[in-house]
Amino acid sequence: MARVIVGVCGGIAAYKTPLVVRALMRHGHEVSVIPTPASTSFVGVATWEALTGRRVATGVFDHPWQVEHVEVTRTADLIAVIPATANTLAGMRAGLADNLLLSTILSADAPVIAFPAMHTNMWTNPATRDNVEALRARGVDVVDPVDGDLSSGDRGIGRMPDPDDIVDHLLARLSPGLLSGRRVVISAGGTREPLDPVRFLGNRSSGRMGCALARAARDLGASVVLVHANVEAGLLPRGVELVSAPCAERMAQAMRRHRQGADLVVMAAAVADYRPRHRAQTKIKKEGAQARCLVVELEPTTDILAELSTIREADELIVGFAAETGDHRSFLDLGKEKARRKGADLVAINKVGNSEGFGDVDTQVFLVDQQGTLLGDFSGTKDVVASALMTTLADRLSARV
Ligand code: CTP
Repeated sequence: MARVIVGVCGGIAAYKTPLVVRALMRHGHEVSVIPTPASTSFVGVATWEALTGRRVATGVFDHPWQVEHVEVTRTADLIAVIPATANTLAGMRAGLADNLLLSTILSADAPVIAFPAMHTNMWTNPATRDNVEALRARGVDVVDPVDGDLSSGDRGIGRMPDPDDIVDHLLARLSPGLLSGRRVVISAGGTREPLDPVRFLGNRSSGRMGCALARAARDLGASVVLVHANVEAGLLPRGVELVSAPCAERMAQAMRRHRQGADLVVMAAAVADYRPRHRAQTKIKKEGAQARCLVVELEPTTDILAELSTIREADELIVGFAAETGDHRSFLDLGKEKARRKGADLVAINKVGNSEGFGDVDTQVFLVDQQGTLLGDFSGTKDVVASALMTTLADRLSARV
């Protein structure tokens, strides 16, 4: 049983929050709700009091049960803000304390997770981007909203994930211990293979999935090493050991070193299969014959996943990712074939294409074993998928002992 404070902000998505509160309570967690004053225009205090059986206040000066509130703040295991508005995110970033929710967040030791919901224009506004980045850098888990219908009648990114997905995410967060004492090594991002001092061959991987997996493993109590290639600094999680490995060769070295003593190794990085055979020491010039056609000779890189899977020193669980294009059937078949070929214990197959799989988008992942048996099918934001996937991998590890 965990003690959870659910903060509720003034957005239309607040009408979904009672479902999350009820589900958490059904799972045996103790929930206290702190709505912002604005949110009570959407869901009233009476609803929260009836649902939780606890007194509910919105302002800093709502006596006389303040002592009880202080106790709740001190003993909370998690603060979940559902939904988080642009206004509250800005207040959290600035350290404001002009309502009970903000002052609780400012004073509590518990980790904070926020599920923003707002119009696309507010979510993409540089002010909000900046606030989200700053909060993430301070360790607040800001879960990306999803793409879909918005209350304005528009469609776009900014919709709060469905209550069931939020509950799954929170339950995964609230079951620390599943990976406690475990060492987890994860690779993320896309390698860049240098052509000359200013150019490289790269790919479109953002590293979001690997970072989300590292956060999920950290939240389940693991000690995590994240080997990252060219991932935006703002995306990198806190509370994990970060190792930079910008090209395939550096990643191979880092993975060989850090896999020692690991219980779980996940290769989520998009590693280049080929690199230029020769790296020019000075910038390649567009002159002479090269002005018409530049021929670059490529040589294969180390297949890190295959190497880690072949040379095993311990009983670690090795998981690869397979980025596949094609229709539903052919990409599943291709992924299953890859699971066998690479010798990894499991492969998470994820569909990629022009508009799928890369960056800040929803994703769908199928987990298969070496026999090609489908073990799970996860969809939603990368955070939601990562936490469901990591919980499944943790269960699998526990079942091995
Ligand atoms: N991988 C790796 N080393 C490489 C290339 C890929 O460790 N040099 C890993 C990736 O991290 C991923 C898995 O192999 O976990 C599958 O990557 P993917 O690009 O889907 O497959 P490839 O092996 O490159 O095969 P193909 O491009 O033919 O689909």
